[in-house]
Amino acid sequence: MAGKMRADDGRWWVPGSVTLSLLALLMLVWYWRRRRMVRLINKLPGPPGLPLLGNALDVNIDIVDLFPLGCLVTREFGPMFKVWLGTTPLVVISGAKQAEVILSSQKHIQKSHQYGFFHPWLGTTGLFVANAETWPQRRKLLTPAFHLKVLEQFLEVFHRQSVKMVQKLGEAAEGGKLVDVFPFITNCTLDAICETTMGCSINAQDDPESEYVEAVHRMQQLIQQRMLIVWLQLDVVFKALGYGKQQESLLKTLHSFTRAIVKKRRKLFEEQRRYGADNTARKKPRLAFLDLLLEYSADGAVLSEESVREEVDLFVFAGHDTTAVAINWFLYLMGRHPEAQAKVHEELDSIFKGSDRAATVEDLRSMRYTENCIKEALRLFPSVPYIGRVLKEDVTIDGYLIPKDTTIFIFNYALHRDASEFPDPEKFDPDRFLPENSANRHPFSYIPFSAGPRNCIGSDPFKREFSSRPPASGAWGGGGKRGDDPSFRGGVGETGWDSVWARLSKRM
Ligand code: HEM
Repeated sequence: MAGKMRADDGRWWVPGSVTLSLLALLMLVWYWRRRRMVRLINKLPGPPGLPLLGNALDVNIDIVDLFPLGCLVTREFGPMFKVWLGTTPLVVISGAKQAEVILSSQKHIQKSHQYGFFHPWLGTTGLFVANAETWPQRRKLLTPAFHLKVLEQFLEVFHRQSVKMVQKLGEAAEGGKLVDVFPFITNCTLDAICETTMGCSINAQDDPESEYVEAVHRMQQLIQQRMLIVWLQLDVVFKALGYGKQQESLLKTLHSFTRAIVKKRRKLFEEQRRYGADNTARKKPRLAFLDLLLEYSADGAVLSEESVREEVDLFVFAGHDTTAVAINWFLYLMGRHPEAQAKVHEELDSIFKGSDRAATVEDLRSMRYTENCIKEALRLFPSVPYIGRVLKEDVTIDGYLIPKDTTIFIFNYALHRDASEFPDPEKFDPDRFLPENSANRHPFSYIPFSAGPRNCIGSDPFKREFSSRPPASGAWGGGGKRGDDPSFRGGVGETGWDSVWARLSKRM
C-alpha cells in the first residue's frame, strides 16, 4: 500500500514539477522583459505602493474623493509622478511644461486603453478613438466640417433649443421650487447636437423618455463605470454581472437609430445629386455634418457606410455631454457668484437691448466678460478632467526617461489649479482671462479642449452653442442651493453625478 502511494506520488510529481518550472520560466521571461521599464518608472517620484498591487487600493475610492486626492499627491510629488495600478504603471502629469512635451508631439497621439470601452458604441476608427495610424487621415477629412461658415448656420438651432430649455426650466421652477438643472441642459444639448449633426430632431427635451435618448444616457453611464471601477474592466466580470447583455441591448437601439437616419439622409442626398440645382421646388435642407460624411462615402469612396454611422454616433456623444457638463457648472458658478451673474446680465442686456433674437457671430465676439466666466468655469470644472495617451516611443521629461508603451494621464483638473499660473487657484475669478492677466501664462497651463494636434475639433461649435444659450429677455436668473455644494465627479448621468440644484427666478 505504502509502495503504491509512493508510485502515485511519483506520477504526479513529474507533471507538477514541469508545470511549476514552466510557470517559473514564464515569470522569469515576464520579469526580464519588464526590468528596463520597471527600473525607469521607479526612478520617478510617486506614492509608495504594495508588492504586486502597487497603488490599486489607494485609488479604489469614490470618484468624488479621487480628484482632491490627485491634487494632494500632485502637491506632494510634483507635476509628474508615477502610480502602479497592480503591475501596470501610470504616469500622471499636471504641469504645463510636462504636458506640452506629450500633447504638442505628432508622435504621442495614441489614446490609452481606457478609450477602448467606447469601441462597441463608436467603433474603432472614429475620430475620437482612432489609433495613431488612422487618425491623421480622418482628422484631415473632417476638419472642413468645422469651418466658421458651416458653424454660423447652426446659431439658429442653438437659439431655438435654448429658448425651449429656458421655458422648460421656468415651468419646473414655478413657485420657487428647487430644480436639478442638469437633465434639462443635457436634453437641450442632445437636441442641438442631433439637429446639427444628423439634420434631424430627436425631441429629447419634449420626450426625455424616448428609447434613443435613454440609451445615449445609459450607455455613457456604463462606459464611465467601466473606466472608474477596475474590476468592471475585465470582460468576464462585466458580462457575469449582466452588464454585457445590457450593453448589447443599448447598442441595438443606438446603432439601429443612427443607421436609419443615415439611410434616410442618404436618400435625400442622392435625390439632390440626381436633380441638382434645377430642382427649385425642393427646399434645400440645412447642411448637416452627416451630409459632408455622405459626400465622402458617395459611390463607396473614402468612408464606408459603417464608418459614417460611427462618426455620427461619435459626434453625438462628444458634442453633447461635454457641453452639458460645462453649462451645468457655469450655472452653478453664476448662482454662487451673484456679482459675476449681474455683470453677465449687464453685458447681454447691452448687446440684445431687450430683444429675444438669436445671437450673431458679432454678438458672440462682444461677450467678453461672459466668455471669461465660461473660461473660468472650464478651468475649475473641466468637462474632460483627464486625457490618456500611450507613448509611441521613449520620451525624456524633466531628465526622466519614460519608456515606450507607458500610459500617460494628463490631469487637467490639477493642471488648472497650478498656483504658479493661477494664484489662489480655487477662487472663481473670470478676470484671470483678461489679456493683461494672461499674457505671461504658459500656453499649456489652460487646456480644457486639450492642445496640440489631437485637440478638440469641436471647441469652436462649443463656444458658439454655449454663448448663444442665455437669451436676452425672459431669462431666468439662478441661485445655487447654498450650503450643499455639488461634488465634481468628472462625469454626468442620472446617478445624480454633477447635479446642480438651483432655485430660479424670472428676470423682470
Ligand atoms: C465644453 C465643450 C467641450 C470640451 C471641454 C471638449 C474637450 C475635449 C478634449 C479635452 C478632447 C481631447 C480628448 C482626448 O485627447 O482624450 C476633445 C476631443 C474631441 N472633441 Fe471635444 N470638447 C467639447 C465640445 C465638443 C463638441 C461640441 C464637439 C463636436 C461638435 C467635440 C468633438 C470632439 C472630437 C471629435 C474630439 C476628438 C478629436 C481628435 O481626436 O482628433 N467636442 N474634446
